[in-house]
Amino acid sequence: MVDEPGQTPYERAGGADVVRRLVDRFYDLMESDPAVAPLRAMHAQDLGPMREKLGDFLIGWLGGPPLYFEREDSRCMGSTHRPFAIDNAIREQWLSCMHRALDESGIADDLQRQIRNALGQMTEAMRNR
Ligand code: HEM
Repeated sequence: MVDEPGQTPYERAGGADVVRRLVDRFYDLMESDPAVAPLRAMHAQDLGPMREKLGDFLIGWLGGPPLYFEREDSRCMGSTHRPFAIDNAIREQWLSCMHRALDESGIADDLQRQIRNALGQMTEAMRNR
């Protein structure tokens, strides 16, 4: 992948396929790693809808098409997460799945660093315990 100024992070990452694979890996890890069982338990039995929603969200968040906000069922991230008890342990579980998924994503290191920093801040803002 060629890094050109003016490209969105979404384009630099490699587009929708790369983001969808990242999200699938994130939820595969959430489903299979006993260390993140409390995080898994917060989610609905069927993670299928979340695979779609988080993919849609991240594609828009990275500068691609605003798929999540075009959904009839899109919600505000603050009110979505407020009912859940998000302490630092759960936050670390979320980040641990995302960091491992990013490690395997093939996304350039400097872009990965920016994404990790931004998600670190976003998840800190979601912490309510
Ligand atoms: C702090 C760590 C986080 C925890 C513990 C967490 C947990 C959750 C839970 C339990 C749900 C509901 C799942 C379900 O209904 O099955 C949810 C929904 C969602 N989360 Fe998170 N989340 C976290 C961080 C994030 C971040 C950083 C993002 C965005 C980058 C995000 C995006 C979403 C989206 C798009 C939904 C779907 C909302 C909807 O339309 O129903 N979450 N999250």
